[in-house]
Amino acid sequence: MRVRDSGMPEEEFWESLFDVPLILDRLGINHLGTGRFHDVAELGCGYGTFTVPIAQAITGKLYTFDIDPAMLVRTRERGQGLSIECQERDVVQHGFGVEVDAVLLFNILHCESPVDLLRHAAGALRPGGEVLIIHWQHGETPRGPSLDIRPRPKQIAEWATVAGLATASEPIDLPPWHYGMVCKHEG
Ligand SMILES: C[S@@+](CC[C@H](N)C(=O)[O-])C[C@H]1O[C@@H](n2cnc3c(N)ncnc32)[C@H](O)[C@@H]1O
Repeated sequence: MRVRDSGMPEEEFWESLFDVPLILDRLGINHLGTGRFHDVAELGCGYGTFTVPIAQAITGKLYTFDIDPAMLVRTRERGQGLSIECQERDVVQHGFGVEVDAVLLFNILHCESPVDLLRHAAGALRPGGEVLIIHWQHGETPRGPSLDIRPRPKQIAEWATVAGLATASEPIDLPPWHYGMVCKHEG
């Protein structure tokens, strides 16, 4: 099932809404050569906005899943030569189907069943792995799901606990429009 409010605007506009290097730095992904993450899975590649730079920063493979074939075509095109596996898959229904060191839930936790999605993410993690989350700040933003379904950091922390994850971070400011959270798998 396609997540509500998960349609994409034009690529150029979408990519004007993020400071990608800052986001990668503040989430601790951009530490080239530190081996912090080997394999990573992403729900919703979109245009590959994060897929491509994150694939360049990790030591293993980036598995990315989208329900929209056009998004996979674009991400494959941009990710040529990198260790990226793009698959058409309904992750809400089927989970990730891979085992990784980090799962990316970027701009997607306004979904209908966030706890189930976090459980899928937790289930894909190797021991000590992390779920990395970004979402739109609550307030006026140039894009993003309607405020009534937009999660606040505290809400995400509660959902993560129910899903068996520990919140490892306070909300991380990701200007201009986002915040981030890191949830650890303790197993
Ligand atoms: C708001 S976009 C975010 C894309 C990317 N994560 C980013 O932040 O640039 C959400 C993406 O999730 C995809 N999507 C929605 N429901 C999905 C599902 N059930 N399984 C896999 N992908 C889904 C959409 O097609 C869309 O590309």
